Amino acid sequence: MEKILITGATGNVGLSTLKLLYSLNPEGVEVVAAVRDIERAKKIEGIENCNFCHFEFDEPGTYDAALEGVTQIVLIRPNQVSDVSRYIFPFLTKAEKIGVRHIVFVSIVGAERNRIFANHRTESHFKKLSIPSTILRPSLYMQNLTSLHRHDILDHDRIHVPAGHGLVNYIDVRDVAEVIVASLMNPVYENQSFELTGPEPFDFYQIAKMFSDELGREIKYTKPSTIKFVRQKLLDKKHLLYVVTLSLLYSAAKSGKMNNTNDVFHSITGHDPRNLADFIHEYRECWIKTAQDQELLKPRKRLRRRRL
Ligand SMILES: NC(=O)c1ccc[n+]([C@@H]2O[C@H](COP(=O)([O-])OP(=O)(O)OC[C@H]3O[C@@H](n4cnc5c(N)ncnc54)[C@H](OP(=O)(O)O)[C@@H]3O)[C@@H](O)[C@H]2O)c1
Repeated sequence: MEKILITGATGNVGLSTLKLLYSLNPEGVEVVAAVRDIERAKKIEGIENCNFCHFEFDEPGTYDAALEGVTQIVLIRPNQVSDVSRYIFPFLTKAEKIGVRHIVFVSIVGAERNRIFANHRTESHFKKLSIPSTILRPSLYMQNLTSLHRHDILDHDRIHVPAGHGLVNYIDVRDVAEVIVASLMNPVYENQSFELTGPEPFDFYQIAKMFSDELGREIKYTKPSTIKFVRQKLLDKKHLLYVVTLSLLYSAAKSGKMNNTNDVFHSITGHDPRNLADFIHEYRECWIKTAQDQELLKPRKRLRRRRL
């Protein structure tokens, strides 16, 4: 009997992985979603009937119960959990102690080269463990466009990232989930690492044009400098580490380090990854202004008092 524990199970990749595993329903496999708030997780469409356990990286008291009987882990490190030696490594030590036999770790493109990334430190830590791992390094998620960048596109008709003319290869998290599941089901992927990309890279002028064509209104790529971008995000009260990580990723894109395209996804799954234009079409409602939005965005005329 396999028991698979998924951390970050309500996030982008975790939720897709959970849904995929439940739809496949592999024989002899129990799947458990490790979540911070079970009642909130139960309300998420499509996972109402999943098995949940209470788990928080920063609450070591939750580790033992979550790990009970677990044979494999899908480790997704939340962006907020950056002190990995305090909150990830002790969890991995426990996993090793109870005899977890395999971990699929979702890292990020370029993590092996960037010491500053928390995922780099986590990847390195696996070398000290006896548990076999599969390290996946996906390129940027298409879902960033429906979350991180949604507000800019919807309310300001712009894509505001400091990526210059650099190309970015986006991947859909549902495709990352498919590779995670393949890695869980097939021991041949143990002790290997894979960079995962979508089918094709684009610069943000091209991406803005895709949005304009799909939405029927002009979406501009503003190409801010890194300093301007950082200042804006900090004014928006975003966490410093998060802003630094984003800036590093877009600087990497600017200098041509995010444009790699490979056929790893195809060789593992036997079919092509989803493409960006189809993604934008599928999720177009996210960036469509409702009548109410349009009303709120209208410039207000000053009311003049009529003189009596
Ligand atoms: N964004 C990208 O383009 C990209 C690309 C490649 C790789 N990555 C990597 O992907 C990872 C993030 O994955 P994601 O985008 O799927 O995550 P996400 O959507 O940001 O979701 C984070 C998940 O972690 C949970 N969580 C937050 N704090 C927690 C804590 N203290 N203890 C336990 N669980 C906690 C959240 O649960 P709640 O529902 O309770 O908040 C949620 O399920 C990062 O390591 C990032 O480096 C990102």
